[in-house]
Amino acid sequence: MDRIRLDQETWLYTGMGDDSETRARILRRHLGLELNLPPDAVTLRSGPGGKPELADTALGLWFNLSHCPGLLLIATSRRGNVGADLETMARCRQSADLAAREFSTAERKMLAALPATSRPLAFARLWTGKEAVLKARGTGIVQGLAQPDLAPILDGEIPPPWTHIVAEMGDDHYTVSWYTLPIHEAMVVAARADDAAAMA
Ligand SMILES: CC(C)(COP(=O)(O)OP(=O)(O)OC[C@H]1O[C@@H](n2cnc3c(N)ncnc32)[C@H](O)[C@@H]1OP(=O)(O)O)[C@@H](O)C(=O)NCCC(=O)NCCS
Repeated sequence: MDRIRLDQETWLYTGMGDDSETRARILRRHLGLELNLPPDAVTLRSGPGGKPELADTALGLWFNLSHCPGLLLIATSRRGNVGADLETMARCRQSADLAAREFSTAERKMLAALPATSRPLAFARLWTGKEAVLKARGTGIVQGLAQPDLAPILDGEIPPPWTHIVAEMGDDHYTVSWYTLPIHEAMVVAARADDAAAMA
């Protein structure tokens, strides 16, 4: 398993981590290193909505993960809730039409107005950014993907690298950062969303 550092708190693992046991082992080892604990001493639990979290919240470390075949993304934060999402462009192309139906009207309009060549990457950015926010909140996508509406704050024609944005959801704000990288001959788009209030 190789690991690639996307930023100080975000790591992408590549290789064989496709079963939940392997993912759990990598996660415990990773969190153990951050907490200076042996992996076996890292105790996890399921939060409301099913989001995995550290059983001991006093440790002051939050994390989230995302995976697809051959890839595992782990994001951590010392400041508050964090969400992570990872997609390959191949997956985005496959599910673009279906998934975009769940987007807000403004986002669908934005995608439709783009030249066909810019659309897949803009779709990937919307999808990963929205999922990362929903995973930071811990709700996941059960209530759909219309919110957060990123259309007002994203320019779908801008190529990567992208600067971070602040997405709103009700009274809450999330700082969303994106990463793009070519791996295994596939373009990967990843996003992390941090609780912006905690970062201030
Ligand atoms: C969480 C969710 C967004 C995952 O989306 P996905 O694109 O299929 O998968 P990803 O690879 O990005 O993320 C999977 C990881 O997210 C984490 N996760 C699970 N539930 C989560 C939640 N509510 N919020 C944030 N992260 C969650 C887990 O670590 C999971 O890893 P695992 O597959 O090894 O268990 C999606 O499954 C969802 O919305 N679930 C709704 C929550 C739910 O069903 N709750 C049941 C009631 S308890």
